[in-house]
Amino acid sequence: MSARQPVVDYGSYLQLKKLFSAQRPPDYAAVAAGTDPASGPVRELAHHDELLFIVVHQVYELWFSLVIHELTRVRDLLGRCGPEGGERVSEDDIPRSVNGLRRVNEIMQILMAQWRVMETMNPANFLEFRNLITPASGFQSVQFRQLEMLAGLSGEARMDFEGRPYATDLTDWERERLASVRGKMTLRAALFDWLSRTPIQQVFPAFAERFVAAFTSYCHEQSALQQTNPNLGAEQKNAAVAAAEAQAESLRAWLLGGPPERNHAHQAFLFIGSYRHLPLLRWPAALLDTLIEFEQNFRMFRFRHARMVERMIGSRIGTGGSPGIAYLDSTASKYKIFGDLLEARNFTLATSHVPPLPDESLLNFRFA
Ligand code: HEM
Repeated sequence: MSARQPVVDYGSYLQLKKLFSAQRPPDYAAVAAGTDPASGPVRELAHHDELLFIVVHQVYELWFSLVIHELTRVRDLLGRCGPEGGERVSEDDIPRSVNGLRRVNEIMQILMAQWRVMETMNPANFLEFRNLITPASGFQSVQFRQLEMLAGLSGEARMDFEGRPYATDLTDWERERLASVRGKMTLRAALFDWLSRTPIQQVFPAFAERFVAAFTSYCHEQSALQQTNPNLGAEQKNAAVAAAEAQAESLRAWLLGGPPERNHAHQAFLFIGSYRHLPLLRWPAALLDTLIEFEQNFRMFRFRHARMVERMIGSRIGTGGSPGIAYLDSTASKYKIFGDLLEARNFTLATSHVPPLPDESLLNFRFA
């Protein structure tokens, strides 16, 4: 009798046998020197709550893998017109990118909510097995580093702790995974590449100069308003005048003072935001919104992790050897991927103050 061809079933399709066999930690004392602990003997849980600790980490890692999968596609869609692609980004690819980013942002909400599950652990119970996991740490999460690199966190922005860069403790397969992102186009670079090709010249050649003029007069209006503020003294009123000049100057530098491609990308960012109500700019504006939201979510994720850690271990040093929450809080405040785009919120103008387009119909839908 010939063997029956297996049919798809729930457990094998999802590889659940493999997944469930991964919830006991390696028995490091019993693993032979020089071999991979992940394929050696396992030990029993040291405490009831150790399973919570393992499962929560694994679930985060699974979501990270989906976030990387989605962001890679968005990077590829937008980066098509970049040095690696050479093609134009098609109209359909913008909504496709927005949908990918919306999915990522929803996942990030779940990631933030999940800290609450970890927080059901009594901190004293964590101490029952904390020594057993030292010196391992989320600091060694290769997917988290992949995610940061793919998004575009620059190497210079990173902080080491104790002079140890983040890649020091990685195993060979982890290094290989990182190599797959290193040197590749980042999401940030793909976005800037796409922005720098926005055809502003064809629609509003004098946009940058006109926007600077409108913003400068808005700043002067604001400083004039402060001169009538009865709560301000002469010194504060003078400071308001100086601040208005400085703001107008910083917009000029942001839009016109850098290399041409960056200037163009910044101009496109303000252009799309300013005329976002016009049909042809709605999807590009949604794309920028979802990216800003992603940045905010990423930073909130770091901040929320730090609060969970504070609640769990106070200000003790981390198992990985960092100063703990002091390190985590500084990454939450300093690590920005689209920081310069957030900076542009300083330059937002009320729609009534935005310079009118020479011909709005160019950005309406046209039917052949
Ligand atoms: C009781 C639970 C946890 C505690 C007390 C904790 C504590 C810490 C500490 C102190 C650090 C700084 C590095 C170090 O010195 O070890 C860190 C880093 C990190 N942890 Fe956690 N963590 C916990 C759970 C988690 C979970 C569930 C994840 C999800 C994957 C996670 C992901 C990370 C990541 C990605 C970093 C690196 C952050 C960076 O370098 O910016 N942690 N954790």
